Amino acid sequence: MREIGVIASEASETEARVILSEGEEKKSKAEDLVMVENRNGGLIMAVLRKGLGSNENLRAGGYHPGVAYARIGGKPSTAKETYDFGLSVIGEEGESIQQNKRIVAPGSIVKVFEESDDPMRMLAGKKHTSTLGHYEGHPSWKVPVDSSFISYHIGIFASTGGGKSYLARHQVIPLLQKSGYDVLVLDWKGRDYAPHFRKDDVLSIADLSLDSKTVASYLVKKADRFGYSPYGGTVSQALEEFIYDEGWRGLNAKDFRSTLERSVVNALNPQRIQSGRPYEDEQRFRRGLRRLKESDIQNILGTKTPKDVLDLVRQSHIRIIDMKKTGRDEKLSAFLSIANYLMDLMRGDEDIDLAIVIDEAPQYCPFNPDEIQRTTADIIIDMCALGRTHKLCVTLLSQGMAGEIGINAAVRRNLNTQFVGKIHPLDMAEASNWFAPFNIDPKFLLSLPPGHFYFMGNLNPSPIPLLITFSIPG
Ligand SMILES: Nc1ncnc2c1ncn2[C@@H]1O[C@H](COP(=O)(O)OP(=O)(O)OP(=O)(O)O)[C@@H](O)[C@H]1O
Ligand SMILES: [Mg+2]
Repeated sequence: MREIGVIASEASETEARVILSEGEEKKSKAEDLVMVENRNGGLIMAVLRKGLGSNENLRAGGYHPGVAYARIGGKPSTAKETYDFGLSVIGEEGESIQQNKRIVAPGSIVKVFEESDDPMRMLAGKKHTSTLGHYEGHPSWKVPVDSSFISYHIGIFASTGGGKSYLARHQVIPLLQKSGYDVLVLDWKGRDYAPHFRKDDVLSIADLSLDSKTVASYLVKKADRFGYSPYGGTVSQALEEFIYDEGWRGLNAKDFRSTLERSVVNALNPQRIQSGRPYEDEQRFRRGLRRLKESDIQNILGTKTPKDVLDLVRQSHIRIIDMKKTGRDEKLSAFLSIANYLMDLMRGDEDIDLAIVIDEAPQYCPFNPDEIQRTTADIIIDMCALGRTHKLCVTLLSQGMAGEIGINAAVRRNLNTQFVGKIHPLDMAEASNWFAPFNIDPKFLLSLPPGHFYFMGNLNPSPIPLLITFSIPG
């Protein structure tokens, strides 16, 4: 450890400033971890934040001989120059790090942790054996994690390109698995996870069995509502009858098409007489049917039930559902049927030992949900509530924290651990709410490099957020 300075006047038990010794201003940086040898007793771990450089001779905004001298090109004197950093107290050293209750004495000596001193081990104590990534700037300081809080749910926030999916893939998913959770990943775009896992661990959304309501509305939409607006009139009704009947399950695409055609045309026949529009409905139906592509039909012929999906997850402890190729409503419906199944298990008092990782979370539970999103947001809230006691971890990834770019506030409140990377400027106000109490300037979050995250909440044994990152293998 290296001595860097002394505590300034007006320190409290949670915050202080350190006056840097000469030359230390060139070495000490924001987010460096330090130990204060408190003259009032105890060793206090803290982090440097909000540095300040001042020079009496160069005070702006008024006349001063030093200012005048600088104006005519003179080299300013450094005689009255000082540097200091704010300290956010993490806690007092003991068995592990505990809350500090003593005032930090002014004049106490401050030392910085260097690469070979590992403050993370001190933070972990004997309790926390799992780790995640490393402390920023120190690859050997593996950040300890209190994995008993995994089922209190996790939120990963960063604007696009901030490294959310990488963090999930390289750090969070391995941690979940190591902590005894099987993992089900919903890959909205089919790009962030599916190509990076073993083929056997990837399921296409087209393999999942969808409920009749979803299938019917999907087909009506794909057939362009049979030329009717807003919904598909008598033709759609006939198609719904056929789908709700369930007789089509298990057919191949060719047989599905011919059976559908026969049943709907038959069903339309009495309508033809009643509506006095001979052929019109049938023609509209046939035209709509021609619009249905082979791949549209394939998408609804999946046979795997939510129970089958969970059985597969149990086999290899991970499955990715590749959701590309389908529309938003089908993706959300597939999620709903799985979520409903998990809710049934939990209501039956089963422990689930499962983590569900939802990338692009604002698609499921946005700030202002529409009809189907209302249902998905509600079920996410319910899963969070029951999950805490039945070991279901919900991990959500989102480009924004709050407001129009963020996720629903009621959902957000259920995520007790957060990783926050580079934020979008629209999230400044929310970031300020979250970070100002810890002396972290939200502007600092605007320029975090990809893969850098503040780690805060229940999983973090430190009561204040820590800046972490991780290296990408290969
Ligand atoms: N730890 C890291 N170190 C270095 N580079 C990283 C790290 N994490 C991510 N990156 C870089 O950032 C890029 C974007 O990462 P990623 O795809 O995870 O972003 P994202 O937040 O999921 O974005 P989107 O919202 O668009 O899905 C990656 O392609 C990678 O090059
Ligand atoms: Mg991503």
